[in-house]
Amino acid sequence: MNKLPIGVFDSGLGGLTATGHLRSILPNEDIIYFGDNARIPYGTKSPEIILKFALQDTKFLLSKGVKAILIACGTVSSNCLNEVAALADIPVVGVINAAARAAAAVAKQGKNSVAVLGTNATIESGAYETALRNMGVESVINRACPMFVPLVENWHPTAEDIATNAVVSEYISPVGAQNPDAAILGCTHYPLLSEVIKKYLPNTQLISSGVCAAEELKAILTQKGLLNTAGGKTEFYTSGGAEAFVSNAKLFLKGESCNTAQHIDIEKY
Ligand code: DGL
Repeated sequence: MNKLPIGVFDSGLGGLTATGHLRSILPNEDIIYFGDNARIPYGTKSPEIILKFALQDTKFLLSKGVKAILIACGTVSSNCLNEVAALADIPVVGVINAAARAAAAVAKQGKNSVAVLGTNATIESGAYETALRNMGVESVINRACPMFVPLVENWHPTAEDIATNAVVSEYISPVGAQNPDAAILGCTHYPLLSEVIKKYLPNTQLISSGVCAAEELKAILTQKGLLNTAGGKTEFYTSGGAEAFVSNAKLFLKGESCNTAQHIDIEKY
């Protein structure tokens, strides 16, 4: 048993899709969430900048005394998981391997084809493609969807919304034409668009990378004897505005609460 909190970070709100699942499968854990809303998006930035931001995010979580870190960001996981793990010296889980494993399992039952939807930086890293090929997946369709994160962070998309449908169709229709068995939502913001993405990928199983990573973290904490049985609260921190964070977090957490968040100056870390 270990009563220390779990640290979770993302460039913004997307990591809450992993946090919501973590809370449902590990209700007795305390969680510290950090969203770098002041510096989002990460996915259009260079690997050097992504690394700098990721190490600052990690240092902040370490200053809170966390026992493990969930990198709930596809962009960071695909570009600098090893550097974060080297700095942290505690269990660190990214989204890539967990999501690739889930997608490969689906693909094995079909025609062995997986689509990867992610930010520019995630797709350019090739991390998902490498993981999937190592798992025996034959066809990997890579698709960067750079408009998805601004859409989700600023627009509050719905399945009926014309602008959302136009953007999603632009990126996903060419993928739908290839009818993959599984599509990895390789950015943790993308589950907010699942309903619309599904319209253009009707026969494809969508895999939430954040959900898969949360499951992997649970398995690791269980195996290492690090679970808590007496916690259950989540503290939210953001480099952006606290009020905006709280009002937008509701969309991501689906029923779970986020009543208060604290602003921090991430440049100090
Ligand atoms: N949630 C982040 C990811 O999973 C969003 C990336 C961004 O900030 O562009 O990649």
